Amino acid sequence: MKFLSIDKVLPNMVLAMDVKDFSGKILYKKGTLLDESKIKNIKNNGIFRIPIKDVSNMNFDTYINTTISKELLEKSFIKIKNIFETLISTGNLNIPEIENITTEIVKEMSNNFSDKIFVPLKKLKNYDDYLYSHSLNVMILSTLIALDMGIKNDELVEIGLSGILHDVGKTKIPLEILNAPRKLSEKEFEFVKKHVLYTKGILEKSGFNQKKVIDGSIEHHERFDGTGYIFKKKGKDISLYGRILALSDVYDALTSKRSYKEPWSPYKTISYILSHVNKDFDPEISQNLINSLGLFPPGMKVMLNDNSEGIIVGTNRNNKMKPIVKINNEIIDLNEDKKLRIIKILDYQHIEDF
Ligand SMILES: [Fe+2]
Repeated sequence: MKFLSIDKVLPNMVLAMDVKDFSGKILYKKGTLLDESKIKNIKNNGIFRIPIKDVSNMNFDTYINTTISKELLEKSFIKIKNIFETLISTGNLNIPEIENITTEIVKEMSNNFSDKIFVPLKKLKNYDDYLYSHSLNVMILSTLIALDMGIKNDELVEIGLSGILHDVGKTKIPLEILNAPRKLSEKEFEFVKKHVLYTKGILEKSGFNQKKVIDGSIEHHERFDGTGYIFKKKGKDISLYGRILALSDVYDALTSKRSYKEPWSPYKTISYILSHVNKDFDPEISQNLINSLGLFPPGMKVMLNDNSEGIIVGTNRNNKMKPIVKINNEIIDLNEDKKLRIIKILDYQHIEDF
């Protein structure tokens, strides 16, 4: 049990003892699950500290929705790796299995999508299997953007499919070039750019004929101002799925370890995206990404104005500046605790679960 200041009490916490008003009448009994109206009522009765049950063991999931379970993330990564390795060795792409993986993830993400979310991504310590984790992450991030846009049902699955398939053409590029720890020559870069066309070829050869999905996949390197490749499309001439994928692709690439760079922190990446809105990215869709990841995405270590240090563990989709922070095993929602605010970014550690 722990006595907490009423300002730090959050919905879903449980009372460890009866709470009585000044006349001795019991307001709420021991074991009561608190919600916002009960917390407000306790506060209105002039009570400033209340006994809370085992805050350190408070179930993270009762407060923040993890959009994908760790099990599904790991299982999907292994399946994608197998599918891509089979594609490399036999030339056959297992479309039905890709559709199964995508549908399962999109369904789980739709069910868990809420105002307070944590979105896990698969991040590797090395870069050897980057293509597989990247395909999974681009699917997850594209679905996330689409959910924030209010897109539903079949279109969500289509966007997820565009994401998982967007770089299948890279299986035709030798790893010595893909993972070269140096700047590519002009000739090599022109070759790498062709992965977009190889994606189209592989999908057509596999009998996959969903045009919107293919267009989304092959337009992920187009840029909003027309400076991308390979079709040099501009603005809304780029398909909606292509504009979504451009953001997910860059977000995951920058936050991942590559042969030629260390991973960028989500904060640096979000700052980069904000500075390239209208140039590289659709401004409205960029907002959807930032709504869901926040300006301080999970994993950031921060200092608060009371000098405490914590780690961001979730996003408030309706307040990008006020994420959910874990401080000494206590989960504090900065959107609820109006006195606390972030004053400094300290560090970053990748988190997949708690
Ligand atoms: Fe690509």
